[in-house]
Amino acid sequence: MRPTLIAGNWKMNGSRAGVDSLVSGILRQGPFGCQVLLVPSFVFLEQVERLIVGTAVALGAQDIDPRPEGAVTGGISVSMVREFGCGYALVGHSERRTLFAETDDQVAEKFKACIHAGMTPILCVGETRAEREADSTDEVIAGQLAAVLAKVGVSAFATAVIAYEPVWAIGTGLSATPVQAQAVHEAIRAMLAAEDQDIAAQTQLLYGGSVNRQNAEALLAQPDIDGALIGGASLKADEFGAICRMAEGAG
Ligand code: PGA
Repeated sequence: MRPTLIAGNWKMNGSRAGVDSLVSGILRQGPFGCQVLLVPSFVFLEQVERLIVGTAVALGAQDIDPRPEGAVTGGISVSMVREFGCGYALVGHSERRTLFAETDDQVAEKFKACIHAGMTPILCVGETRAEREADSTDEVIAGQLAAVLAKVGVSAFATAVIAYEPVWAIGTGLSATPVQAQAVHEAIRAMLAAEDQDIAAQTQLLYGGSVNRQNAEALLAQPDIDGALIGGASLKADEFGAICRMAEGAG
């Protein structure tokens, strides 16, 4: 059975004071009967690491640079975030792909760097509205996945997570319906199963895109949805805590 993972991607939000109250507000509602992951901005990693000590809450980075070290101004390596307790890193979030023009190949390099460092990459995939309307959702996702499979092979997915995040649903308030999301999750699992059935059966697949306390329960009840990657609603302790509690019965 795959455990349910609820991840909060705080994006470029927060302040020292805000992070203190958000984390303590979340912890007050726990412990939770699901995996909980917080993904703050790099500059708050140490603060969050300190606040979650002694709890089961995990810490992740929003991105990493795949290079090990050196002349990369502004870059942050896997070994750096490991030092601050990160067990996970998002790779290929659609905002990185669009705002920073990250290519499938760069995303695959990041994925590979995480795997080599013993960290769990959360590979984000998803189609734009135009791609969905053109009926090419599965094809787009297959391409995003193929770039990573070509770089690291299916065995790397034994210790990876995939987040399906339709670009049109991110930050829009317009979540995919449970039926739409389940269909894509099923397709992603089939893509993995074509390579390795056992790995496909164990890989956690998260849904992301306007998840909130109103729609989370129905999404998490879907057989191939093993958790959620949450942006906006993860910035409110009560809302995030409520979703984590719903996840306890899911899966
Ligand atoms: P959202 O963001 O929940 O605000 O739509 C999700 C994400 O980008 O991970």
